[in-house]
Amino acid sequence: MEYQELIEKAVEVSKNSYSPYSKFAVGACLLTDNGHVYSGCNFENSSFGLTICAERNAVGSAIAAGDKKIKAIAIYSPNSEYCYPCGACRQVLNEFKSENGLDVITTGKSGLKVTTLDELLPEGFNL
Ligand code: THU
Repeated sequence: MEYQELIEKAVEVSKNSYSPYSKFAVGACLLTDNGHVYSGCNFENSSFGLTICAERNAVGSAIAAGDKKIKAIAIYSPNSEYCYPCGACRQVLNEFKSENGLDVITTGKSGLKVTTLDELLPEGFNL
């Protein structure tokens, strides 16, 4: 799976975002070690704190399918130059990063940047 395909799926799923309060749509698509992909979008709630980010929605789908090793994730928002994962999502991704690390591909109105989770979250918390 090329990163371009992950980006295309992230763009596609962002169209399903439920974000009437922030009006900030996000789509994420991740790739696991075994080559499977899982998508998610953000969905908000009248009780704002219950909002779920696109990244964590995608991670939940991977976990539910039994895939716990994530090697890459593409994140897209039509409302942002580059959409980086929030701090909470970085920590959630840290829990399921593959042995070889986790590439983070951010996209938006401006283009594309590739970084790693270790760069975005040095010394993530582990029990
Ligand atoms: N959001 C995400 O989906 N992912 C992030 O990493 C940052 C924020 C969503 C949550 C909320 O629905 C909207 O973007 C504005 O914060």
